[in-house]
Amino acid sequence: MNQPVKVGDKIKLTIDSVANSADAVGKYDNFIVFVPFAVPGDEVEVLITEVRANFSRGKILTVLKKSPFRVEPVCKVFGECGGCHRQAVDYSKQLEYKLKIVENAFKKFPGVKINKVVAAKEPYYYRNKTQFPADMKQSKIGLYALRSHFVVDVASCPLVSKEINTIYAEIRTYLVKIKYAVPTLRHVVIRSAETTGQAVVIFVLKNEDFTRIHEVSSYLRYKFPGISVLYNINPEDSNIIMGDKHFVYAGDGRMAEKIDKIEYGFSAISFFQTNTAQAKIIFKKIKEWVKGSFEKTALDLFCGVGAISLYVASEFKEVVGVEEMGQAILDAMQNAKNNGIENCEFLNGRSETMLVKLMKQGFKPSTIILDPPRKGCEQELLNLIAKCAPETVIYLSCDVMTLTRDLENLTGHGYKIEEVVPYDMFPMTYHIETLVRLSKGPALKKDLPVKKNA
Ligand SMILES: C[S@@+](CC[C@H](N)C(=O)[O-])C[C@H]1O[C@@H](n2cnc3c(N)ncnc32)[C@H](O)[C@@H]1O
Repeated sequence: MNQPVKVGDKIKLTIDSVANSADAVGKYDNFIVFVPFAVPGDEVEVLITEVRANFSRGKILTVLKKSPFRVEPVCKVFGECGGCHRQAVDYSKQLEYKLKIVENAFKKFPGVKINKVVAAKEPYYYRNKTQFPADMKQSKIGLYALRSHFVVDVASCPLVSKEINTIYAEIRTYLVKIKYAVPTLRHVVIRSAETTGQAVVIFVLKNEDFTRIHEVSSYLRYKFPGISVLYNINPEDSNIIMGDKHFVYAGDGRMAEKIDKIEYGFSAISFFQTNTAQAKIIFKKIKEWVKGSFEKTALDLFCGVGAISLYVASEFKEVVGVEEMGQAILDAMQNAKNNGIENCEFLNGRSETMLVKLMKQGFKPSTIILDPPRKGCEQELLNLIAKCAPETVIYLSCDVMTLTRDLENLTGHGYKIEEVVPYDMFPMTYHIETLVRLSKGPALKKDLPVKKNA
């Protein structure tokens, strides 16, 4: 194909839509141009920064004519920082765009209706966890620029909780005061519990030289006496933020959240849903779907600290949770005890291997709940689930592409998609959380071929 643009060109473009990424999309001479941070309806002057066979990328130089859906971003560094992507879009339009993305992804399942996206009550200050990368050489702490490891110096972020912003501001002020003289510091991870106010700070360090970071920690404890401070050592240069080694500077390094009646305690390194308010709405929906299954059992794969298992336990005779992270399983067991829940069992291991074991033992859940990481499920696991043949599968996903890939497997095995509900768990970003309920249809005779995950 003959591309009508080259790197360095300045072109005028009308933005038509958004992609399932940080980008908005326009066409120049019928050739796709991805432009981050733009708004459908904008007319923009764009600098072309990358050209590939079938698409190009550009960045906004000037907004020539504002879209009617364009709003003033709350954040001063919006567009410079890559932490969020849609702050310039009116919130109700953000929801419409997210619905379109989900609808497009579900086109391979004709006839499946997608519910409206459940809006967040609070589209700002919702994150209960954030990692701030630090660049000690450039005397900066903040957030990464889009698709880059360049640290944009930010003073605060309107997506993270007010508590996190307050703690972050103190850390940043102190780093400025000591002229960023903590050469080992790589990231500052801050978690705050929305429902209990507890907070943990994890300083991710290159090595175990704690001399300068102790000073920051001591100041932090003076400012916030109840706060836990941990050190994580990560010598590797990779995209993974935390290493395997932890040290406690102060506090017990534990967090607690309450969703309805259930109290969850968890270690600072265990997963907990990032938007507590939206998690509660999702958990309620799951409970509504499984209501009154008192004679039946459920299997919660990828259960983390038992968040969903414990929330729905009152509806089942028994719930088994499976999770690969040992600490999270210990947390889940303790949570069951603390909440007086006796019909939950938690098993440490990979979902794929544990399901084989459970099936060999004759365990036959009526419902399987799946909440895997972004990469979705292994195809072997989905084949096993089909063999296990629960009446209902409930799949919670933060990536609609891997979700629909996995649903192709389950529907190929005769499962029927009954309901699809997208949730806006991450306002101002392109990310979408989707909850799906499937029911067992007539079983297919043979296994589907095992495809390798991308
Ligand atoms: C998206 S989180 C969901 C946690 C939980 N359902 C919740 O609502 O808090 C995914 C979890 O799956 C775990 N995990 C990742 N791969 C796994 C695997 N192959 N088997 C079991 N657990 C896994 C992660 O450690 C993480 O706790």
